[in-house]
Amino acid sequence: MELKIPRHIAIIMDGNGRWARRRGMPRIMGHYRGAEVAEEIARACMDIGVEYLTLFAFSTENWNRPREEVDLLFDLLRDYLKNKREDLKNLGIRLRFIGRRDRISRDLKSLMEDLEAYTSDNNRLTVILAVDYGGRDDIVRAVRSVIRNGLKTVDEETFRSYLDLGDVPDPDLLIRTAGEKRISNFILWNLAYTELYFSELCWPEFTKEELLRAIEDFSRRRRKFGRVLDE
Ligand code: IPE
Ligand code: IPE
Ligand code: MG
Repeated sequence: MELKIPRHIAIIMDGNGRWARRRGMPRIMGHYRGAEVAEEIARACMDIGVEYLTLFAFSTENWNRPREEVDLLFDLLRDYLKNKREDLKNLGIRLRFIGRRDRISRDLKSLMEDLEAYTSDNNRLTVILAVDYGGRDDIVRAVRSVIRNGLKTVDEETFRSYLDLGDVPDPDLLIRTAGEKRISNFILWNLAYTELYFSELCWPEFTKEELLRAIEDFSRRRRKFGRVLDE
């Protein structure tokens, strides 16, 4: 079968905690392993010619987790970004972030900005990390920008340009792991016509093979966008 490679894949990386707890380990171990898997999947996406990979790393609702887990998650992100600075550059990965910036510590914020600038000339694969991201928050921030800019009215294309993914094509394929079948306030606007794939695997056990299964499944979908397709 001929594989259709999605231009943009979005992933809700779920099940880190369950994966760890099942093995009698603290939840954070699942997040550590999850970060490694994210890197493996980014490399796989690069190999097969995906242009954009958007990963849900921390939602606006995830602040409601125990303080310790939140702190450890941000420590993990900070260490990871520091350690991977050169790898990302050399691999040709452009790193971008979406989400709120006002609740993130100053040092992490500047690290994020540094990486965005440092990798901005890379063009093999754009990895977009959603950190303190909520789909509703994204839309509300966009509305605020519209008002601030004094616009009297907007159409869909203008409004889109104010969203965090305003300059990025909509995801063709959304993958959610760990058997949950919901969007959990991810990129609501941009998922309007995205094909959905739910994997039973927890994120720490997700593999390139499972990614290819998702893409194979995607390749068989008939994307109609509301039209009638000729039989
Ligand atoms: C996803 O794994 C990672 C984040 C939301 C940060 P979870 O931490 O949600 O894992 P489960 O769903 O509790 O197993
Ligand atoms: C969604 O996963 C957020 C991320 C993957 C970062 P959650 O585990 O937070 O979602 P719910 O609580 O199951 O909806
Ligand atoms: Mg979860």
